[in-house]
Amino acid sequence: MKSLRPTWILCLFSMALFSQNPIIIPGTIESTNVNLTLQDGTFQFFTGINTTTMGINGPLLGPTLIMTKGDDMNISITNNLGQESTIHWHGMHVSAANDGGPHTVIGVGETWNPQFTVLDKASTYWYHPHLLNSTDEQASKGLAGFIIVKDTEEAALVLPRTYGVDDIPLAIQTKSFDGSSQILSNVNSDTTLMVNATIDAQLDVPAQVVRLRLLNGSSQRTFNFGLSGDMTFHLIGTDGGLVAAPVALTRLPLSPGARAEILIDFSGLQSQTINLMSYASELTNGTYGATYPGLNQSMVLTGYNPNTMNGADFNVLQMDVIAQTASPITTIPTSLVTATPIAEINSDQTRSFEFSPIISGMNQLNGDFSINNVTIDMNTINVTIPLNNTEIWTFQNNSAIDHPFHMHDVQYYILDINGNAPPSYLQGRKDTFTVPAGGIARVITKFEDYSDDTIPYMYHCHMLKHEDALAGMMGQFVVVDPLAGVDDFEISNAILYPNPTQGAYLSIQLKNQAENILAYSIINQLGQIISYHKIHENELNNTYSFPIFKLAQGQYFVKIYTETQIITKTFTKNN
Ligand code: C2O
Ligand code: CU
Ligand code: CU
Repeated sequence: MKSLRPTWILCLFSMALFSQNPIIIPGTIESTNVNLTLQDGTFQFFTGINTTTMGINGPLLGPTLIMTKGDDMNISITNNLGQESTIHWHGMHVSAANDGGPHTVIGVGETWNPQFTVLDKASTYWYHPHLLNSTDEQASKGLAGFIIVKDTEEAALVLPRTYGVDDIPLAIQTKSFDGSSQILSNVNSDTTLMVNATIDAQLDVPAQVVRLRLLNGSSQRTFNFGLSGDMTFHLIGTDGGLVAAPVALTRLPLSPGARAEILIDFSGLQSQTINLMSYASELTNGTYGATYPGLNQSMVLTGYNPNTMNGADFNVLQMDVIAQTASPITTIPTSLVTATPIAEINSDQTRSFEFSPIISGMNQLNGDFSINNVTIDMNTINVTIPLNNTEIWTFQNNSAIDHPFHMHDVQYYILDINGNAPPSYLQGRKDTFTVPAGGIARVITKFEDYSDDTIPYMYHCHMLKHEDALAGMMGQFVVVDPLAGVDDFEISNAILYPNPTQGAYLSIQLKNQAENILAYSIINQLGQIISYHKIHENELNNTYSFPIFKLAQGQYFVKIYTETQIITKTFTKNN
């Protein structure tokens, strides 16, 4: 009898500690015309206590934007905050001017109107502020929302997709609060865990296959997701799209900024409780979230301890299994989409990036950190990339702490981490992943579709304290079109016809009849001259037809030399 007593006390204690709150599921906007308002607010994370927050169309977080590949989005964002902000479409492939990075400030009371075509694959993306030195403050106070992109490939699969029922967005965040329950930023004391702004969150899940869209929206903390009882789940998507086939897992580490879609089969488990956990005791030292945040156990990170989450296993979300829905999905698909990584042989260029602590020694975990010995300077372009380049980027982490690295504009494939092929859950399209402390990793990507020689894209550590520092761990790249300045077809001084063509000849006609075509060259997409032809004196005219039957299918440039000008135009050869 006596031996039961401590257990009984522990039970009561656990009940009090783990009283659960039904999870908040953000509302949705499914339209190509989206109106968003950034606003200050208050929210009760703790019963009866008002915490000052920021939100989008509400006091905290924002609506889930549902987009379809091919949509022409027209978004209005009005900033009613008491301070400047920006909104960035994390993971999406949009032009630099519409990307919402730190150069695209929305002033107080102003409205920003980004417009873009959704070119992304079906996946889970997110939007968040990106104001220089203020990203953590604004994101921690609540500015963040989901973007779900749909496409026909995904729609053809048998997958759960009833939002909030069997398709659940989960923004997992830890936050720091001061003594009066106000949110702190750029500190390491994130002792409060929440999912969709719900502390001790609870979710009812139907007894069937359920899809969770996991977003690590924390400022710094890495989670090592798993299910209680080591139940198997299936990874179906990484940051930028579905994977080729579901990957059976019992653990899924996810770094800040990254997303993953998983399927869990709750069939036959009605009335049971399964917990989404973070098994942080298994994180290796050097990871923010492990027992020691640095490789060297004597290195200190101010404010990191005490924190019951560091190096411990903890509950993230309690899932209570309820009855099946009317038309449940009950099987895990065997295959998903064709996802072909870019082969290393296709790389045009390799670039190297070294991450280094600015101070060395036992205090180095506190930052700041540099990339190739420099920190963010908004007036410096760190990397210039020719449009359509395929590149390998090598990240060498010379510091004792992991850095989850993010690039704007692109999704990449990880080639290797410390010389090894990436684990199965990192083999899909990614935009944020962990470069381990003291380690090296390589990714491959192609910079296509958008060029802009003035507005840069950013690359940075997605630990917001590292990014936000005055010496911020962030750099800028531009994608430039080496053949920019090509005349627009309508307004040019010459016309090219027929274009596009399947024919054997293409004709050039100068608008000025008095002028002659002296020579022309044909240039491929890589900027290589394929042919150059000087026109014979007795053939000089303001029109000329040149042979193209030897050209392979594709896009070309023709440079036309006249007495007074050089005109560059594009044409397309079809077979
Ligand atoms: Cu999620 Cu540059 O950011
Ligand atoms: Cu981003
Ligand atoms: Cu970092």
